[in-house]
Amino acid sequence: MIATEATPRITLPQLAQFAQGDLVVSTVPAHPPEREALLRSGVAGASIDTRTIAPGELFVPLPGAHTDGHAFLATAFERGAGAALCERSRYPEWQGREPGPLILVENATIGLILIAHRYRESWPGLMIGVTGSSGKTTTKELVAAAFATAAPTLKTEGNLNNHWGVPLTLMRLEPGHRVAVVEMAMNAPGEIEELTRVVMPGSGVITNAGRAHLERFGTIERVAHEKAALARALGAHETAFIGADSPALRDAVRGVKCRVVTYGLAADADIRPRAVEDLGPDGSRFEVEGFPPVHLRLIGRHMVANAMAAIAVTKTYGLDPEAVARSIETHAPARGRMELRRVRGATLLVDCYNANPDATRAALETLASWPGATHRLAVLGDMLELGERSAELHRETAAAARDADVWTVGRFADDTTAGARAAGLATRTFADREALREALRTALAPGWVVLVKASRGAALEKVLEGIEEDAG
Ligand SMILES: Nc1ncnc2c1ncn2[C@@H]1O[C@H](COP(=O)(O)OP(=O)(O)OP(=O)(O)O)[C@@H](O)[C@H]1O
Ligand SMILES: [Mg+2]
Repeated sequence: MIATEATPRITLPQLAQFAQGDLVVSTVPAHPPEREALLRSGVAGASIDTRTIAPGELFVPLPGAHTDGHAFLATAFERGAGAALCERSRYPEWQGREPGPLILVENATIGLILIAHRYRESWPGLMIGVTGSSGKTTTKELVAAAFATAAPTLKTEGNLNNHWGVPLTLMRLEPGHRVAVVEMAMNAPGEIEELTRVVMPGSGVITNAGRAHLERFGTIERVAHEKAALARALGAHETAFIGADSPALRDAVRGVKCRVVTYGLAADADIRPRAVEDLGPDGSRFEVEGFPPVHLRLIGRHMVANAMAAIAVTKTYGLDPEAVARSIETHAPARGRMELRRVRGATLLVDCYNANPDATRAALETLASWPGATHRLAVLGDMLELGERSAELHRETAAAARDADVWTVGRFADDTTAGARAAGLATRTFADREALREALRTALAPGWVVLVKASRGAALEKVLEGIEEDAG
């Protein structure tokens, strides 16, 4: 099927104005109707990658490690780009042979952010920002799925949550959308505050403040303060939904002017589940006042907390509890996040998408409470970006394991092993993933339950390569 160009939502003159840049085209049509048509043309959406750009999108050339996006300007227009940003310093290469309408800016990333922000300003729907140390994507998906039962809802695709992903998401807003759920992450101090200015949320969800990114923030209080920027940006008639299981976060939002609704497993949370039943591989069942009983397919108690976010937000906005409960029930885990695999009768809990001390503790808890296991094993790799306390945090986290053997690999393997030993657990330390894979290959047996967990950068899922899953 040939894609048809979308109707422009931002015209060429608007692009130039929003980006505080200059519009250049190689030739301006002489006839007034054609000139008018050119000025009315523009873009719908934006892309930073010519391999996936859709016709009618704005192409944003970003500096890359190997090649600069400006090398692809002509390709972008061949693929149907409606316009492209071009940094002024790179314009001489294109001057006089512009492959399509260009908006000259000092910096393409800033240009994209400015355009996305101005475009978002004109969109009148309910904008919900989601941030926190862990559980952002899961929470974003659950909240968006719940709203989608009631109104056209835009959500962040996957994990596009940084200073490129957030504006690209905003550029996907359409006049028909009534709700948008946007994931926002930070890598450096001040980033949530900056993203909040771009996104202009009318409501915010902060999942927790954990020990992810301690490297750059130093203390958990500092992390909590950064996350709380989302709540500080909300007005008196707006609501922040705050993970109640995170004491530092609760402290950090004291004194904000918006309304605060807490959610989670804590006994004093405004929105909390009762009668939580752990169904192991089948997730959990729970009840919340005013909602029909819910069977959540996502595995682990922390996922119940994430589901509480969707319940808290939709309850505040008066959505139908039946529809919300059904949307939560049909939600399936995404690849790499607590995925269930079976190998020779053993159950593998593969959670190699992300890890920090809190997420790993939550996963270890899931392992310890897994029903029907004859033998439990935690295969733990590195948790990255924890800074100078890395070694200590690996020891502490492993010491929280119980009722399981602990096998470790990676830069912090010795620390993880030391922590597990201190907890009285049997351990094995491996020199590399290959050695660990061989040990796993021979050891796995019916009744074993094995957690495989590490940060994305550790690529711990590689220990499972070539280990065949059971059929069916
Ligand atoms: N509420 C929670 N508390 C602790 N850990 C959680 C929670 N929710 C999810 N996790 C764990 O965090 C990891 C990542 O989940 P998810 O992708 O939803 O988080 P994220 O915040 O979007 O991560 P990222 O920073 O990579 O975008 C998973 O391993 C999951 O088990
Ligand atoms: Mg995410």
